Formats: sequence, C-alpha cells, structure tokens
Amino acid sequence: MGKLLILAVFAVLLSVVAYTLLDVCDKMGVFRKLDPVKPGKCNLIKGIEYGSEDISILPGGLALVSSGLKYPLMPNFAGDQPGQILLVDLNQPVLKAVQLRISRGFDVESFNPHGLSTYIDEDDTVYVFVVNHPQKRTTVEIFEFEEEQNSLLHLKTIQHELLHSVNDIVALGSDRFYATNDHYFAQEHLQALEFFIGLSWCNVVYYSPSEVKEVATGFRLANGINVSPDGRYIYIAETFARKIHIMEINLNNTLTPVKVVHLETIPDNLEVDPKTGDVWVGCCPNSWKIFFYQPENGLGSEVIKIENILSENPKVTQVYLNNDSVLQGSSVAIAYEGKLLIGTIFHKALHCDLNNS
Ligand SMILES: *[C@@H]1O[C@H](CO)[C@@H](O)[C@H](O)[C@H]1NC(C)=O
Ligand SMILES: *[C@@H]1O[C@H](CO)[C@@H](O)[C@H](O)[C@H]1NC(C)=O
Repeated sequence: MGKLLILAVFAVLLSVVAYTLLDVCDKMGVFRKLDPVKPGKCNLIKGIEYGSEDISILPGGLALVSSGLKYPLMPNFAGDQPGQILLVDLNQPVLKAVQLRISRGFDVESFNPHGLSTYIDEDDTVYVFVVNHPQKRTTVEIFEFEEEQNSLLHLKTIQHELLHSVNDIVALGSDRFYATNDHYFAQEHLQALEFFIGLSWCNVVYYSPSEVKEVATGFRLANGINVSPDGRYIYIAETFARKIHIMEINLNNTLTPVKVVHLETIPDNLEVDPKTGDVWVGCCPNSWKIFFYQPENGLGSEVIKIENILSENPKVTQVYLNNDSVLQGSSVAIAYEGKLLIGTIFHKALHCDLNNS
C-alpha cells in the first residue's frame, strides 16, 4: 500500500512537471513552424545595432527609439556603452538614426532604456517617458524633447515601490501614466522560477503625483501597453498567455476588463495608429531561442496588425515574419505613411514598404 502511494504521488508530480515544461515550451514557440511573410521591400535602418526595443512616432514623422537595453538573460552587443534614445526622421529617403543628447545633470552612464511613450500637451510640448533600469532598479524618466537642439531635457525621475519591474508605459498626461510590471518578484532567482512555472502574477499600475495604485493583475508577463486614439481604452499585451487585453478607463483611473484578443504568437509592445486605431504588435515568434542565442540562427521577428480591435470580430493579419536572422527578436512595430518600422530587443531595426495594406 505504502509503495503504491509513493508511486502514485511520484506519477502525479512527474505529470505536473512534464505539463509545466511542455506548456512553457509551447508558450515560447518551440513547436511553431515559421513561414516567412514580407509586406514589400525591406531595408535595415542605418545606425541601429544594439536594439530598438520601443518606438514612438511623433505626428510629423520623427521616430524616437529606445536602444541598448541590458536585461537579465538577454544578449546585449553594446558592451559597456550605455543605452540611448535615437531619432529617425521618416521623411528622409534613406533612414538613419542619430543619437539624442541628454541634458546635463542626468546620469547617462547608467542609462538603460526600455519602454517609451510620448505625450504632447496643448502647448505642443513633447514629453518623452522612458522606463529606465539603472543598476538593475526601475525608474521612469520624464524628458522634454527639444527638436531644434536634437536633445532631451531631463525633467524628472520617478521611483515607487509599485513600479518595481516596469517593462512599458503609456503616458496620459505630462506627469501621469499606466505601467506594466513584467515580473512579480524582485529577486532574480525568484523571477526565473516565476517564469518557468508560469505564474500569472504580473500587474498594471496607475501613477500620478497624487495617487499610485495597482489597477489590474493576473498577467503571465505583462508587457506592451497603449491607449486607444479616443483615450477611453487601455490595451495590454500578456506575453506568455499570447493575449491582448482591452480594458476601459474609469473616471477614478481604475480599469474594467472589456475583452481579450487571442493571438497565435508572442506579443511584446503595442502601437496604435492615431488615425485608424489599428493596433500593431511586435512579436517574437520563437522567444525560447533567447536562452540558446546563436547569431547566425537567431530569433525570428513577426508583426501582427489588429483592425477593429473593439468590434465583435477584430481582424488579425500577419504582416511580417522572418526566420533568417536578418532582424532578430522584434519587440515593436508601427506604420507611418505606407512604411512599416520594426524594432528589436537587442538587434537592429527594419523598415518595409506596405504595398498592399
Ligand atoms: C524558415 O523558413 C524556411 C523557408 O524560407 C522554411 O523552409 C523553414 O521550415 C522555416 N523554419 C522554421 C523553423 O519554421
Ligand atoms: C472606480 O470606478 C469604477 C467604475 O465607476 C467603480 O466600479 C469602482 O468601484 C471605483 N473604485 C474606487 C476605488 O472608487
């Protein structure tokens, strides 16, 4: 009897471990076949070699790009060189990135930029919000973009215990935003455990100078976050559940779940077309390769477009996919005037003609 019981317990444990492992592999795209898709002619953007994790395009066609992210377990080619915010003018015939200077007084040496969001106020002041991880901590930096000087004026550093592992933010005013935390735990070994057993404990936090609070929770890696053009809905990418959550913003800034869009791939950042409301999703279709990185057999890149996301039947289109290591590990995509811009976690950046979209 005793032996049978031990055997039964052992069998149950083994099944749980096997199931968890298979599920993690499946969620990271181990079993997926990647058939390439190209929208039109594509070219790399000059001057982007060390990542373009997040991108925001200003109404005139200037793209701000966060580059040089150093993140645990991920490759980084920048060495000791700190991260940067790059500027790409999409009105130019050949796209190239230039580095934005940052005003004196800001610690550029430890700059480790991650998610990025812009907010333009009624005086046309452009605020640039950047998630930063100096010395493995999380802060949110607020800059003012000075276009004539090609520079960023540092205004404020925000640090808060609820903003402990921020991945992405969306600014809704000059000093308020929603942020996703991509881990529940702060310690690195617990973060790894959380990841491999697939805990859905990540959250979304609302920040304003007068109020900071958790507004949604239960995510298996909360990642990209953005807002609908009318400012009524928040979109959240739940990376390892392969879902996009749509939530309504209440007057008291809490969020009410509205619906969920399921994807076949692994979503990272979300960008919203201000005119059409289309949601562009930068995806990493075979994320598992991060742990076995090889330059010549790198991660693939994938871009998904979601039209009519608020309707009964959103249209999900695969616009781009590669598996040939030209562009590795895409994290963000955004369309501007018939061009598609694709950024990556630690690699280059691409722009493609959108022939038939
Ligand atoms: C990558 O693409 C090629 C076609 O270019 C295809 O034959 C191959 O099966 C793809 N690899 C994977 C892992 O899907
Ligand atoms: C915030 O507003 C929502 C919707 O009106 C309501 O359901 C919720 O109870 C409010 N929460 C707080 C803390 O006031």
